[in-house]
Amino acid sequence: MTSHLKKVELHCHLEGAAPPTLTLAQARKYNIDISPYLADGAYVWHDFASFLQCYDKVSEVYKTEEDYALLTETYLEELAAIGTIYSELIVSPDHGKRIGLGADAYIEGVCEGIRRAKAKSGIEARLIVTGERHFGPESVIGAAEYAARAKNPLITGFNLAGEERMGRVADYARAFDIARHAGLGLTIHAGEVCGAFSVAEALDVVRPSRIGHGVRAIEDMDLVRRIADLGTVLEVCPGSNIALSVFPDFASHPLPRLKEAGVRVTISSDDPPFFHTSLKREYELAAEAFGFSDAAIDEMTRTGIEAAFVDEPTRQALF
Ligand code: ADE
Ligand code: ZN
Repeated sequence: MTSHLKKVELHCHLEGAAPPTLTLAQARKYNIDISPYLADGAYVWHDFASFLQCYDKVSEVYKTEEDYALLTETYLEELAAIGTIYSELIVSPDHGKRIGLGADAYIEGVCEGIRRAKAKSGIEARLIVTGERHFGPESVIGAAEYAARAKNPLITGFNLAGEERMGRVADYARAFDIARHAGLGLTIHAGEVCGAFSVAEALDVVRPSRIGHGVRAIEDMDLVRRIADLGTVLEVCPGSNIALSVFPDFASHPLPRLKEAGVRVTISSDDPPFFHTSLKREYELAAEAFGFSDAAIDEMTRTGIEAAFVDEPTRQALF
């Protein structure tokens, strides 16, 4: 039973949190045939590449500022209802551009959703602008420039997501330099689809305070010790990892071993309905599949607050 525990989430992609019922209603509203990607109430994909394709197609049924406000409010209210006090949403201005909405209207819709949810439940949320590797280095630089230029107080971080097997981290170094220079918090997907080398590259090139996933660092115990020594926080998403076959089952998932080795870890849901999970489920799994005590789960939540890309007064109020 983890329902009584306070929760935070640092790693959730906004379009990846879209409830299938909402996506279906949106597709009907715009007369879009979503059936190859959403059938029998579930998103349809079979491997990492087809998951990314499904994600991009699902995003296309969210077309207006109001659509994004509704999506954001809906997800944050779901989080608030299970005792979540803070959420960082990974947002991609490129997805706004691809549907002709534009980055500003896309972000403004998301910010409106944050304001509505906060007014209703008090939940705090911030935005991590992401570049997508499979859109190429130039578009990732564009996303970093957008985040740096926006000077939007709700945009507090920069991320790199998408196809980890495309290019090397060094190809995206300039984007991270731009984001660092703008004072944004840095995190990067690494060690999810690719192995330990990808996490090492991320540490060498980006020097992020957090890493998205990072779980395949477990393939190199020297690297695990380096992560622990640096204090880099891993945003671990166990349900996502199992759904994407990064590990065959929870018994072989390295979350307990990473924590045991002194790595600072937090738990998140990544793209919850795509992976048949939710933040509620991830907290339950922490207890049921990994055997963590309430105190150990609380410690991960506190790590999340410590590592949050948020101003100090807000952070202190979250503890
Ligand atoms: N975009 C959405 N979910 C992702 C994931 N798990 N890895 C990389 N990019 C993503
Ligand atoms: Zn992710």
